[in-house]
Amino acid sequence: MDKYAVIGHPIKHSQSPFIHHQFAEQTSQAVDYQRLLAPLNGFVDSLNHFVREGGKGCNITVPFKTQAMDIADELTARAELAGAVNTLHLLPDGRWLGDNTDGAGLVMDLKRLGFNLNGAKILLLGAGGAARGALAPLLAEHPAHVVIANRTPARAEELALHFAELGNISSMPLEALAQSFDIIINSTSASLQGETLSLDSQICHSGTRVYDMMYGQTETPFLAWARELGLEHRYDGLGMLVGQAAESFYVWRGVRPNVTPVLKALRSQLA
Ligand code: ATR
Repeated sequence: MDKYAVIGHPIKHSQSPFIHHQFAEQTSQAVDYQRLLAPLNGFVDSLNHFVREGGKGCNITVPFKTQAMDIADELTARAELAGAVNTLHLLPDGRWLGDNTDGAGLVMDLKRLGFNLNGAKILLLGAGGAARGALAPLLAEHPAHVVIANRTPARAEELALHFAELGNISSMPLEALAQSFDIIINSTSASLQGETLSLDSQICHSGTRVYDMMYGQTETPFLAWARELGLEHRYDGLGMLVGQAAESFYVWRGVRPNVTPVLKALRSQLA
């Protein structure tokens, strides 16, 4: 059995062990996958301990994604662009390869759901780590335009500048949004604080598709807003969670699992 883990703080509610054990079973891979709670000041010690016990790779979650980037000996281009590492892969020579599969997981899920990214006008709400991780994979799909809108406009401006060479991208303060978009993606953590974004209905047309990177047992406030506007295509981020896991599994094992049955099992478990 090769050992993998997800390391974070907190970690109790992570669905990753369930997802990876399902992938392992489906693809007949000998994989064991655990949750590891690292002390807030003890990420590197926990990681080293895990390797001494035979760990071959891990997923990294809040709040250690930047530290994971710092300890990686080598970074993939997408991790470098994302400015964070969610996947560490132990190379045969004992060095760590740092990767970021979050954005690939998002794009995988959007495609699975029938979103047409090529030529689309996309609005990305939020300019934190989740937004940053999504931008390069989104721009690689050749949308017509990506607008980033954030509560703190300077962070959106900074991101737009950072990714300017990869496509048609600009920023706008949340309250200045006036045009309509084909796709709206919420990457903000507003709902975690029980807050609702204040959005103008004119940013949608009747065919606008919306995606919330957040998910939960109940409908997120962003998706409730979209439902109240009468939008038909509304999706939460559970598929992104399974998608990024599938991409990490591929990095470690070289095998691509089928996300659909795992997502179905996870959804029924959360219900
Ligand atoms: P993550 O890694 O999940 O992206 P983050 O880097 O802390 O977390 O970013 C959180 C994002 O959610 C930011 O864009 C933040 O806006 P600010 O840059 O203005 O802080 C956004 N956000 C969080 N709470 C929000 C709220 N109540 N209203 C609007 N935006 C909010």
